[in-house]
Amino acid sequence: MTDIKMETSVQVLFVDDERKILGSLRRLMLDEDVQVFTASSGEDGLEILRNNPEIGVIVSDQRMPGLSGVSFLKQSRNIAPDAYRIVLTGYADMYAAMDAINQGGVWRYMTKPWNDDDMVAAIREAARQYRLRSENRNLSEIVTRQNAELKQWSEQLQLMAQEQTLEIQKKDEALKTVELQKRRAVLDAIRAFSDLFELRDRTVRGHARNVAEIASAVAREMKLSKDEIETIHLASLLHDVGKIRLSDGALQKSMEELESKELQEYKLHPLRGQVAVDTIEGMRNAGVLIRHHHEWHNGQGFPDGYRGEKIPRGARIIAMADFWDRTVKSMGKENVVEKTMALVKEGLGRRFDPKLFSPFEKSVRELYAKRPDRSAYGEIELPPTRLKEKMVLSRDFRSGTDILILKKRTLLDPKKIELIKRYYLLDPPKCGVFIRTKK
Ligand SMILES: [Fe+2]
Ligand SMILES: [Fe+2]
Repeated sequence: MTDIKMETSVQVLFVDDERKILGSLRRLMLDEDVQVFTASSGEDGLEILRNNPEIGVIVSDQRMPGLSGVSFLKQSRNIAPDAYRIVLTGYADMYAAMDAINQGGVWRYMTKPWNDDDMVAAIREAARQYRLRSENRNLSEIVTRQNAELKQWSEQLQLMAQEQTLEIQKKDEALKTVELQKRRAVLDAIRAFSDLFELRDRTVRGHARNVAEIASAVAREMKLSKDEIETIHLASLLHDVGKIRLSDGALQKSMEELESKELQEYKLHPLRGQVAVDTIEGMRNAGVLIRHHHEWHNGQGFPDGYRGEKIPRGARIIAMADFWDRTVKSMGKENVVEKTMALVKEGLGRRFDPKLFSPFEKSVRELYAKRPDRSAYGEIELPPTRLKEKMVLSRDFRSGTDILILKKRTLLDPKKIELIKRYYLLDPPKCGVFIRTKK
């Protein structure tokens, strides 16, 4: 007998057709920390295994009526694949023992009669290995489970990170929307102011908006940054705002017709324009463009006589657009675009930056190509109540006091129709709204 105790209780099954032998084996295990099962045939042994698949050590006699030890052990593998199997044989049954080892997954064979110490040592060793194997299996199950948990955690973390990113994106978009709304409000106010200013002189109506349309198109064509395009747009809308100090008489004359005192005043308008907007937050860059919109490429412009690249790019663009709109208006009706384009070309290198001509020409031609052929359309005058979505204005819509509210060619949507109706309450025009019709 041995004094070493097994750490955890392992289940042991003894199978033998002789009750006496089962009795001695059971006695042999009295001091061992094992739970013993006995069966007197292979068939009974299988039944016990089915009910106790955790059995870790199986000791079976080879010679039994019915199922032989080899057959029983072979079948036991299906029920308890991890168990350690020991076969008991007489000396005469060595072949059967070898069979058992080869086919029955038997770990060891022992001869009958056995030595008690050897038997105990063998069972103890089998139990130890079985326990080790199950501990390993338990450990690897734990590791697998923990890995799965870790994976789940990391997926949850990823999900949380994604949710947070989404949240930040949403907030960012909301901020951008507010920013955009603010910018639109500023632009609307500036447009209204620019229109208001042009009320003084019928001949220049729509000039600022036209210059803004052309200059922005050129800036876009040149792929300038969004900020620069916006600055050029704003500066175009206000480029002549400094003319507010000119007398009505001077305002209606061309530059060539001005008397010397008037000319002096006139030449101050870019500067006055800059000063007027300089105090407005975000308008300082636009102010610089306003200041330089009358500079010439050869340095003979005003107010600073800058030449070439020293003139800010936006101001050079506005100068061309400004010249274009003023010239087009004085050109009559025939071949206006070609005649004006020829004049712009003539001014290259002298008045205008030759590098700007190509984007300028492309943008202007595209803008004119988009303008519908007026002869293809007629118009009707409608009261505001009969306006519908998708109608197109055939004339500028102006309030009763002649403020430009919407430009001709504007496509009506519910918001714009609402705006027109509001002006019929606030400052009613004397006529209806002119809408384009197909001829
Ligand atoms: Fe000007
Ligand atoms: Fe102008």
